[in-house]
Amino acid sequence: MQIGFFDSGVGGLTVLARALREISGADYLYYADTRFVPYGTKTKDEVRARALAAADSLFRHGAEVLVVACNTATSAAIETLRDKYGAPIIGMEPAVKPAVECHKDKRILVTATELSLREEKFRNLVARLDCEEFIDLLPLGGLVPLAEALRFDKESVEPYLREQFKPFDFGRYQAIVLGCTHFIFFKKHIQSIVGPEVDLIDGNLGTVRRLAAAIAERGLQADGSGRITFFESGEPVTEPDKLERFHRLIKAADEACE
Ligand code: DGL
Repeated sequence: MQIGFFDSGVGGLTVLARALREISGADYLYYADTRFVPYGTKTKDEVRARALAAADSLFRHGAEVLVVACNTATSAAIETLRDKYGAPIIGMEPAVKPAVECHKDKRILVTATELSLREEKFRNLVARLDCEEFIDLLPLGGLVPLAEALRFDKESVEPYLREQFKPFDFGRYQAIVLGCTHFIFFKKHIQSIVGPEVDLIDGNLGTVRRLAAAIAERGLQADGSGRITFFESGEPVTEPDKLERFHRLIKAADEACE
């Protein structure tokens, strides 16, 4: 079986790294929409058009299941994608539900892209969970270009995070939701700034579990060997240095899974 993954860029590799750990017998197609990253600052219509282009390409190349490994694209396009294609489509949303489930008396900070946080899908989620009075929202879109440029060193990342975190007293927070797949690469930096008492919660494992359930339900053949074919905005990636970069990021993402 071939599983298609799609993100605006390298963020979805953090979900792919999880899938490589949890799912056996699959081959993967990974579509990074490199020419159009970031999505978080675009309009819903623009992101929806990009999601349709990516899904078309992945299904044309033989994907039997699609993982929208991007919270922003899910919020803009998941219904459109599910209406258009018969294959199972797994989306992502900021993991507010698990954070709220273990909520006690402290607050929860939800981080995501600008577009995810202002979308109706997110507002509906907050209303459904009835958690408005104890969550705060913080767009952290500045982390997306840092991840795309592979700038993971402390000097590049911490000044931005410290500035964004300035208004928050983390002694009052129980958890931070990492509601964008790019943010997973920065877990270590975030934890070191907010301290060990604050839980960092993301939706990657939950997404991969839903993927495994969809595979089982469809009875898809476990005949793959973990091969990954990469695409950048529709173009197959063949340059060795680009392929090496993708594999290096999967390794970094796998380390961030811990
Ligand atoms: N990785 C994406 C997400 O999970 C979007 C990042 C962006 O392109 O702004 O929301």
